[in-house]
Parts: sequence; structure tokens; C-alpha cells
Amino acid sequence: ENKPVVIVGAGVSGLALGNFLLREGIDCVVLERRDREYVERRQRAGVIDTRATRAFRKRGLEDRVVGGAPVQTGLGFRVDGEDRWLELAVEEHREGRFCPQQVLVRNLITVFEQDGGDLRFGTEVAVEDGERPRVRLGDGSVIEGDFLAGCDGSHGATRAAIPEDRITRHSHEYGYAWLVVLADAPADRPTLMAIHRRGFAAQFGRGPQASRFYLQCPLEDTPEEWPDERIWSELETRFGEPIPTKGTIVEKQVVPLRGEVHSPMSHGRIHLLGDAAHIVPPMSAKGMNLALHDADVFADALVHYYKNDDQSLLDAYSDTRLRDVWNYQAFATWFTDTMHDAGDPGSRGEFRHRVARADFERLFTSDTANRLLSEFMAGLN
Ligand code: APR
Repeated sequence: ENKPVVIVGAGVSGLALGNFLLREGIDCVVLERRDREYVERRQRAGVIDTRATRAFRKRGLEDRVVGGAPVQTGLGFRVDGEDRWLELAVEEHREGRFCPQQVLVRNLITVFEQDGGDLRFGTEVAVEDGERPRVRLGDGSVIEGDFLAGCDGSHGATRAAIPEDRITRHSHEYGYAWLVVLADAPADRPTLMAIHRRGFAAQFGRGPQASRFYLQCPLEDTPEEWPDERIWSELETRFGEPIPTKGTIVEKQVVPLRGEVHSPMSHGRIHLLGDAAHIVPPMSAKGMNLALHDADVFADALVHYYKNDDQSLLDAYSDTRLRDVWNYQAFATWFTDTMHDAGDPGSRGEFRHRVARADFERLFTSDTANRLLSEFMAGLN
């Protein structure tokens, strides 16, 4: 079998790329090892930034994919138990939307199938590097493509198929972790972040009935050390207010905060997108967005290639994206460390704590500082 573009993985990056290509009349197949139910239920990110929203709009997909999702105009904090609202300074950048990942994914699947896209669940592939990239499916059959898009996440098959000496992994450990809790508890605000001496905490709405809660914790902690009662009482302490509906906790996990970049993002006709190429900590809210920006840039490069027989944008894909990815790793390290250090003097010391408080307060007192944050939040920096 032959397809111009073979896409491995039906997460946010693979599905977005598939839809973008379909709109441009470029044939592709999306191959996903998990079943549809699993993919549609996976809960993770929750904010689509302005740049990503515009990528859908530019291809006439905005209404069908993110229509109805509320717009993000600012950030809600609880600082030492007091409400602080930070309105994003740049009005024309306020097009980001609160859209839980599973809603985005479900919409992307629906639109792709309605438009006649070829999406195959339950299909684990092995990737074979070569003049023309090939993937081998479980039943032994082979699909060959002009190009292969590795959208298969941080443990996918595509990056693993690139010879080790052709790609470098750069990584950073933040030194602390988040206990991530999924609960059937409605959020009365779409996001709320607590800066508190006992550590950072946050609540992000995930649809009308569910929330994800985050609690900064030591790297060594395990979910067993966090029984439900301890979670609720720690959240109430850090937010400095009672949580009215506690609901059932359906999942808890300790996730170390880290950043990772694989460079270059291209190897011959194989290109990496999304988590396959880079990881940012969830605090930055850029994981899903960088995946969408990758899909946007890569789709444009393929369109340029097929319409004009010109490979230059594909050749530039890795450099173009890495410039951006490092810029957002810079934002992610600043934002993540500042929000944690502004609360917790314990893990990195009193000096860092006071510097972080100054960094945080400047967002409220300096229009320039707020504008820079707004640009990063919008994905337009
Ligand atoms: N064959 C087929 N599919 C595979 C294979 C394989 N060998 N290996 C992995 N996959 C699939 C996974 O099952 C998964 O559905 O690839 C998909 C990768 O999806 P994600 O991990 O969500 O990666 P990505 O699309 O890059 O997501 C980007 O969105 O919400 C965020 O946290 C998410 O930061 C991440 C971002």
C-alpha cells in the first residue's frame, strides 16, 4: 500500500496534522495502536492557545473543532489564600480557549472521519527507515509513504527508528513533582492556581463535572502516601478555602516535572511532531500547543512541497520548530520555577523564594511584564 503521508499516532499532533492535510487535499493515513475509546478518554491538557486557535481558523476548522469552548482572558490565582486575577494585557491575543484535550481529540476524530479521512485504530506499527519510509503493521502488511510523520508520543516507534547517533536528547529535571488527581468535582472557575508556602496547587476544570487537581510534592512521593482525605485537606490548606464538592477521586499519579528536546526533529523523510520531539511541564500549558504548532508548520511545508515541488520548507522544518520549542522551554522554565518558588521557600531556598515573589508581583505592576506573559500565553512570542 502507498500513501503520500503516513502519520503514526492519533494523539493531538497526529489528528491535527491529518485534518490539516485533508483540508489541503493531501492524502494520508493515521495509524493508532490504541482503540478509539482509550484515545477519546485520555485526559491531559486543557488550554488551546491563540496561535493554535488561528491554525484551525486559517483552514476553516475553528467552529467544528473548538467552537463553543470558552475564551481565556486571564489567569486566576490564590496567593496565600487571597484571590488575585491577572488579566492578560494584550487584547488581540486573547483568543485562547479552555478546551479539555479529550474534547479536542473527539472533535478532531469526528471531523476527520466526516471528511473521509483514513484513520485506523488498534494498529500498532513498526517503523522502517529507508529511501522511502515504511511502516509495518501487526498483520505483516506494509504501508510506504513519501513522508512519515512521527506523532507517536514520547515513547513512540518513530524516534526509536532513527539511528541514535543522528539525534540528541537534551533534558532538564525540575527537581520537584506534581501529584496529579482526577476527580468528579466541578470547578467554579476554569483555572485556579494556588501559590502557598506548603507548595503549589492548581485546579483545572475538565468539562462541567470533572476537575484535575495538582499538588506540588517531593519527587520521592508515591500515590499511596496520598490517601483521599490528605489530598482534600492539603488542597483546602493551599487554596485557603473549602472545596465545596469533593466528589470521587478516580485517578492519582505522581509526575516529575521535566523538559526534553530531541534535536534535530527530522531525519531524511521522517519528521517528528509533538511529544515525540519535545516535552514541557504541564505548568506551562504548552505541551498540546507545541504539538498543534508543529502540525501547523509541517502541514504548510507539505502543501508547499506538493503544490510547488519545492522542498525548502520541509528542509527548514526542524530548525524552524526548534527555535520556537527552545523559546517555549525558556518560558516553561521561568513560569514553572517562578510559580513554585513564589510559594515554597523549602525546596530551593529563601533567596529564590523572594526573587520569585518579585517576578510574580511584576506581572501585576508592569504592563511590559504582563505583555510578555500575554505573548507567551498566546503562543505568539
Ligand atoms: N504505533 C501506532 N501508534 C502509536 C505507536 C505505534 N508504534 N506508539 C505510540 N502510538 C500512539 C499512542 O498510543 C498515542 O495515542 O501515538 C499517540 C501519541 O499521542 P500523544 O502521546 O498524545 O502525543 P502528541 O499527539 O504528540 O501529544 C502532544 O498533547 O495533551 C498533550 O500531553 C499531551 O503534550 C502532549 C501533547
